[in-house]
Amino acid sequence: MYKKGLLYALMGTVALVMFMSAGQVMGQDEDYPQEPIIFTKPVKAVIFDHKSHIDNGLDCDSCHDDPFEMAAGTAEENADFNMKSLYQGKYCGTCHDGESAFASNTRCTLCHIGVKGYNRLMGTSGEGEGHH
Ligand code: HEC
Ligand code: HEC
Ligand code: HEC
Repeated sequence: MYKKGLLYALMGTVALVMFMSAGQVMGQDEDYPQEPIIFTKPVKAVIFDHKSHIDNGLDCDSCHDDPFEMAAGTAEENADFNMKSLYQGKYCGTCHDGESAFASNTRCTLCHIGVKGYNRLMGTSGEGEGHH
């Protein structure tokens, strides 16, 4: 019985090592945030989803550290994080210019999920935020 237990433990370790090295091969793809990043300043709310961008063949270098730092909330601290900058080719507008990706002056609601979309993602109904 004891030997059998040891064998199972050994097999488990082998499987774990194999699993971990498989994860390392995929390493880069796994490291990006799995949950969408939501901007709430100056307007609530704009959605950025890493997965859909990575699935479109973009690598980390195309956004980090320019035009975006690898730290959520950084761009929001800048006074020029607004549509004017996007139209001038900054931030999301680096690609969302109608050539690399759909233009920033179109399809507003793809990026802007609004307060309702924000509440849905946060799992709150929005009740208690005042009368509507
Ligand atoms: C199309 C643009 C884009 C690509 C490609 C991209 N990112 Fe990001 N990433 C962002 C944006 C936007 C933010 C938020 C920055 C901000 O709020 O100022 C961010 C934030 C992050 C953060 C910080 C998350 C947090 O909660 O603070 C990490 C980590 C990150 N990215 C990793 C990656 C990795 C790894 C890759 C490549 C696999 C990658 N990103 C590719 C746009 C991108
Ligand atoms: C490095 C280029 C690049 C940057 C920077 C970038 N995007 Fe995109 N984005 C793309 C591409 C490419 C697509 C897919 C093609 C298309 O939809 O036109 C896309 C698709 C999208 C979509 C539709 C798919 C989805 O995720 O639902 C949204 C929304 C979006 N981007 C939002 C943003 C926002 C918000 C930012 C800035 C925080 C941003 N993107 C920055 C290249 C970029
Ligand atoms: C590619 C994504 C994207 C698209 C498309 C987009 N926006 Fe934005 N928008 C942003 C980001 C990012 C911000 C800054 C973050 C925030 O306010 O949460 C912003 C901020 C804003 C703001 C507040 C700041 C300012 O410039 O006054 C307004 C208003 C706005 N957008 C309106 C629009 C309208 C109207 C459209 C369609 C014609 C549109 N947006 C399309 C990403 C986008």
